[in-house]
Amino acid sequence: MKTILITGGAGFIGSGFAHYIYDKHPDYKIIVADALTYAGSVENFPVPIWKEHNERFEFWYGNVVNGELMDTLVSQCDYVVHFAAESHVTRSIYDNSQFFQTDVIGTQMVANSVCKYKERVRRFIHISSSEVYGTALTPEMSEDHPLNPMTPYAAAKAGADRLVYSYCQTYAIPAVIVRPFNNYGPRQHLEKAIPRFVTSVVLGEEIRVHGDGGMSRDFVHVEDNCEAIDMILHAPADKVTGEVFNVGTGQHRTIISIAEEIITRMNGDKSILTFADERPGQVSRHTADISKIGKLLGWKPKIGWQEGLEMTIKWYMENEDWWRKRLWLRDIPIVRADGKREFH
Ligand SMILES: NC(=O)c1ccc[n+]([C@@H]2O[C@H](COP(=O)([O-])OP(=O)(O)OC[C@H]3O[C@@H](n4cnc5c(N)ncnc54)[C@H](O)[C@@H]3O)[C@@H](O)[C@H]2O)c1
Repeated sequence: MKTILITGGAGFIGSGFAHYIYDKHPDYKIIVADALTYAGSVENFPVPIWKEHNERFEFWYGNVVNGELMDTLVSQCDYVVHFAAESHVTRSIYDNSQFFQTDVIGTQMVANSVCKYKERVRRFIHISSSEVYGTALTPEMSEDHPLNPMTPYAAAKAGADRLVYSYCQTYAIPAVIVRPFNNYGPRQHLEKAIPRFVTSVVLGEEIRVHGDGGMSRDFVHVEDNCEAIDMILHAPADKVTGEVFNVGTGQHRTIISIAEEIITRMNGDKSILTFADERPGQVSRHTADISKIGKLLGWKPKIGWQEGLEMTIKWYMENEDWWRKRLWLRDIPIVRADGKREFH
């Protein structure tokens, strides 16, 4: 049996990945390490740990900045996939202290443990983000696009991304850096756009779009992202070690078009759409160039936008108990550079 450590496995993508690995690799034991911040929940796990013992799934409630804990866990693992992070851009404008602590120092702690146990660990995947690129300077953004992080979240992720790269060069750790573009799907926190829009339509509440809603993103379904990470995890070392891979679709859509599409699909009332000031540090466009992962590993997304959006809406409609208790975390007070206070 192989053992895989998933940090941040109680959050949106990390838990999606835990489900994916649990179902796809019956010969793998999963260890999740998660500090259960406001963004994480044991309800997201593939097995109900509060009901039963399962020898394929172990949960450690703990913080990635705890180096001793990371040593204990990493030393038992064949694979490490590091998702744990503070992940919400707007929250990083409100208070960025935890972002640098978790996203940079936490990554350093995990990378230190991988370095210590690199004879044991076959592969370490660091989950970075397309946010490290800033606004697209080219029609599609390849892995060579300059890194121009525009918010504290993006800067912390860029720091962690380059930290892992430096450990590859200096200490030859078996690391790969993955830069997913915007993920969507089940169990995503209500602070993020698509779940916020869907739940607002259910509640008949206003949907607040920043600026004119013309900023656009490349949305990839979380299951496709998990498949890409799984392929990178199992690819021959000479193809992936020390490399960076984008994971996206190569298509972008505007936030306003997504809000309108969700309202239409759910038979909502268009008058719930309202507009607020642009978010500070807003990235105007993100579009992935996914040719590298396509050429090297043969990965391409399988879930089309229409299908993915329909599945996502269905999940939120069927899991109201899951999201109702998170409603209070949707609005974040920020202070703009000109001193103006507002909720985003
Ligand atoms: N969601 C996206 O669209 C997206 C896109 C690109 C990259 N990413 C990256 O993917 C990763 C996962 O994102 P997500 O959307 O699932 O985030 P999330 O906020 O839903 O989950 C983060 C998880 O990390 C845990 N965590 C936070 N601080 C921790 C700490 N100090 N120690 C241990 N656990 C801690 C939380 O409890 C939570 O379970 C992050 O690294 C994020 O930067 C996300």
